[in-house]
Amino acid sequence: MCSIIGYRGGRKAVRVLINGLRNMEYRGYDSVGVATMDGAKIQVRKRVGRVDDVSKAMGLDELGGTSGVGHTRWATQGAPTDRNAHPHVSSGGRVAIVHNGTIENFAELRTSLESQGFSFKSETDSEVIANLLESELDGGDGVRGAVLRTIAKIRGHYTFAAIFNDGSMAATRRRESLIVGVGDGEYYVSSDVHGFVEYANDVIYVNDGDVVVIDDDGLGIYDGDGRRVTTELTKVSRELATIYKEDYAHHTLKEISEQPDVIGAAGADESAVSAVARSLRDAGTVYIVGSGTSYNAALAAKHLLLEYASIRAEAIVASEIPVHARSLERGGIMLAISQSGESADVLEAAGIARNAGIDVISIVNHPNSALARESTDVIRINCGPEIGVAATKSFLSQLVVLYKIVGELGGPGIDQEVISQAISGALESGPHVKEIARRLRDVNDVYVLGRGIHYAIALEAALKLKELTYIHAEAMPGGELKHGPLALLDEDTNVIIINPPGTTHDDALADAAKIRARGAHVIGIDTADSDAYDDWIPIPESDEAAHTIAEIVPIQLLAYYTALERDTNPDRPRNLAKSVTVR
Ligand code: G6P
Repeated sequence: MCSIIGYRGGRKAVRVLINGLRNMEYRGYDSVGVATMDGAKIQVRKRVGRVDDVSKAMGLDELGGTSGVGHTRWATQGAPTDRNAHPHVSSGGRVAIVHNGTIENFAELRTSLESQGFSFKSETDSEVIANLLESELDGGDGVRGAVLRTIAKIRGHYTFAAIFNDGSMAATRRRESLIVGVGDGEYYVSSDVHGFVEYANDVIYVNDGDVVVIDDDGLGIYDGDGRRVTTELTKVSRELATIYKEDYAHHTLKEISEQPDVIGAAGADESAVSAVARSLRDAGTVYIVGSGTSYNAALAAKHLLLEYASIRAEAIVASEIPVHARSLERGGIMLAISQSGESADVLEAAGIARNAGIDVISIVNHPNSALARESTDVIRINCGPEIGVAATKSFLSQLVVLYKIVGELGGPGIDQEVISQAISGALESGPHVKEIARRLRDVNDVYVLGRGIHYAIALEAALKLKELTYIHAEAMPGGELKHGPLALLDEDTNVIIINPPGTTHDDALADAAKIRARGAHVIGIDTADSDAYDDWIPIPESDEAAHTIAEIVPIQLLAYYTALERDTNPDRPRNLAKSVTVR
């Protein structure tokens, strides 16, 4: 996904835009660009790179004007090059646009616009929006009419914002986020509130298909028929101030470190948790979906529901739901897990479920997200903004919510204080983990083993290592090692074994012995050391839920410190985006 920011007011626009882009850079960071109305002309500067580097190298601060749009890109259509960076300006120079999402019919629109004399400079789907807007500008009904006719022609999921050389600005959305910030005589349009939260805390969540126009008359929002809509102002929560990383070197480290404190707010609305627990108990079939980290939480949920509530649920990667669409059973429940509530794969899965007569219940961090708005019931994980691209605190908060749900269905009651202590204890492994990270700097392969629900944690561990360190990391149920993967082990391989106390403990030690016999290096995550481990990362003794929730923490730290050793940016891994809003 990309980030979009637009501003019209009395301040020097480029400063507002750069600041907003810096705060939203986690959404995409292949390239950066801004366009401002400087005098009567639209000025554009853009380039591949990070916000601060591009800003310095291109002297963005030199751009004048009190209105403009800005963008950071996560490349989908067209490589991450300077030419493909946004904003894109129409052939006649009357419009500059920034876009997030995909325009499915861009190829045919481009051919048609070219035959009308419009030219294109990039390989992106986005540029057609600029030329379409320009082609529609002379309809006699101004910017609003031009945007309405443009969106009638494009297909896909998108948000775009545009500035016009008459000084006005417009923005619209279809299945991508768009938020308007309202200040004193000034307006912001943005992909998320982080874009302007420092300047304005009154916001409007724009409905799908509505068109925002900001001009000399102020702000107007119109529906698809061009009728003015009335909108509600929402106060942005103060918690957003916590996006700043204070004294931490990276957001990722800050977010890992604050886990003992944030989990207390997960699923705080007890009635929502009870309602969801009842729905799951009474459902015919339960489908649990998510992507990335949230899928790993879905797999943990499947184990918990089976073990504690005798509910047989299927955990399905969200992007696989279209494949199963025909076999989904009416009357079932889909439990959709998503930090952002904006991942396209999850939204599509939810849409398919609703069409099949299946109620969608969601576990989300963002209460105003598309997923939350489209769900029958919502449980909030309330972990505050997660800026590091790799999910950390949201995963622990999701697990806490899941334990709360099964707690209502006969599972173990959880004690948040005990969980916080277990996480704090696990964080104490930091200095030892740093040493292990030094050793992992040059390794190529890491395997992570776990049994039962701990296999879901192992998957999350491998995902963290992949995302932050770019080391090949693979998770498997401990017992599977001997059925093939053992052939891969040699003295250069590292195997992390997640080994909680209980019935699987001895089996995991036996796995460790087999691994060491092949010369590979074993890192045990355990409450006690063992001769079977080359390295031991301690987890404090605790109850079962707290242990399961805390055992990912040292691996989050390991991924973080190994990223530093390998000189990669843990907050912004290459090629990734915080939430992927395209399919
Ligand atoms: C992207 C991120 C992952 C995240 C996944 C699901 O792929 O890079 O870190 O786990 O999206 O995000 P969601 O917001 O739906 O939980």
